[in-house]
Amino acid sequence: MCFGNLTPTSVRIAVVLLSLSSVGLFQCSRDNAPDPGPGISTVGDTLKTPLNYTDLPDLKPTGFTGFSGRSVAVWQLKMRLKTNQDSITNWGATLGRFIFYDKQLSANGTIACAGCHHQDKAFTDGKAFSTGFLGGQTHFSAMSTVNLGLIEDNDPGYFWDGRAKRLRDQVLAPFQDPTEMGMTLPGLIGKMKSLTYYPALFEKAYGSRDITAPKVADALNQFLLSLISYRSKFHTGTHLKVPSADDRPGEVYVKEFSELENRGYYSYVVGGCDQCHFLDGRLVLQHLSNGVNRQAFKDGKSKIPTLFNIALTAPYMHDGRFTSLGEVIDHYRQGEAVTTIRKEALDPDKIDKEALIAFLKTLTDEELTKDQRFSDPFKK
Ligand code: HEC
Ligand code: HEC
Repeated sequence: MCFGNLTPTSVRIAVVLLSLSSVGLFQCSRDNAPDPGPGISTVGDTLKTPLNYTDLPDLKPTGFTGFSGRSVAVWQLKMRLKTNQDSITNWGATLGRFIFYDKQLSANGTIACAGCHHQDKAFTDGKAFSTGFLGGQTHFSAMSTVNLGLIEDNDPGYFWDGRAKRLRDQVLAPFQDPTEMGMTLPGLIGKMKSLTYYPALFEKAYGSRDITAPKVADALNQFLLSLISYRSKFHTGTHLKVPSADDRPGEVYVKEFSELENRGYYSYVVGGCDQCHFLDGRLVLQHLSNGVNRQAFKDGKSKIPTLFNIALTAPYMHDGRFTSLGEVIDHYRQGEAVTTIRKEALDPDKIDKEALIAFLKTLTDEELTKDQRFSDPFKK
């Protein structure tokens, strides 16, 4: 049985059949379809039960009672997420996951989005500049695609220079980038139609086997919105107090933190990092200069990246100029950074390098790097 011209009733029957069983049924959807490769068994499994992308975790910080200062950050995270997460369905994000990991969707079948956005590196690639499908280099360092769901409509846009205003518009750009994946939109859609697993996945996500560019963008958008960091030591810890300039040394802000991590939290807030890198996971309120961006961007400003998972995303800055967090902190303690950044934002005397590094490591969400929902579905 093949699903050529379907009536609404037969569509419903087909959906039931597909959810009951699997591989054999949708393999016949195109006679000359190429072998979809090792992922096929996973696709079959996926068509029975999608993973759960829509259940929001309870992000209210334990031990936190008041609503003042930065501790409210973790709580706000949930509120901000709520709006964006409403657009996610389990099947939509599942389809987005397949597209994100599918090498066949580049001009020569060598690279997927995940080729430059690796799960174990919080969706960066460990390089100053990334290598595209033909070996060419990108102009900027690959950015983490985590926590994009926290950006609101009136925030500055995506990429280091903010040139893409909406995520769903941005996600089709890498396919068509002559360095990154080298496809055209019609070429992309044609390729997807020729792969056996997509029509079935589109049917699950959108109720029809028809594959269109806006649906591809929507599915990728849904998958990306679901990539949220919320299981770091900072998130799961018991917040007792918000650091403030008047505090005595040795105060405990998060119960589970070591003495060094608590000192680092104080340094982060009082030293001024959180004036720009908010701890509620927002990427930006505005684009600013921190002293490294003067030449590279026309207004001398660039996007303020999230520092969640920063220990996993070296090298740092838009050009990967710093290879360690120690080098980054040295940058903020001297020279151009200090003169460029608004005086009230940064207090170099309060920057305690060792403690600050320990604190930055509490922002790593190890679960994210292992979460099956965000992993490669083509891997057996
Ligand atoms: C060859 C490497 C490469 C590939 C392949 C690639 N990217 Fe990227 N990605 C980058 C680089 C480099 C940047 C930063 C580019 C810039 O600012 O101009 C980036 C930035 C992004 C951003 C912006 C994040 C932010 O915070 O503003 C998103 C979202 C993104 N990529 C998603 C994707 C998706 C979806 C795909 C697949 C369709 C993909 N990328 C494929 C290298 C890559
Ligand atoms: C005035 C705003 C501002 C302040 C204050 C600030 N930063 Fe930044 N930070 C930025 C901007 C903008 C970038 C991106 C610069 C670029 O590469 O173009 C950045 C980049 C970074 C990066 C690299 C991120 C990545 O993904 O590569 C780290 C790490 C970092 N900052 C840590 C800190 C620390 C630690 C402090 C406090 C000592 C701090 N920042 C204070 C604006 C700021």
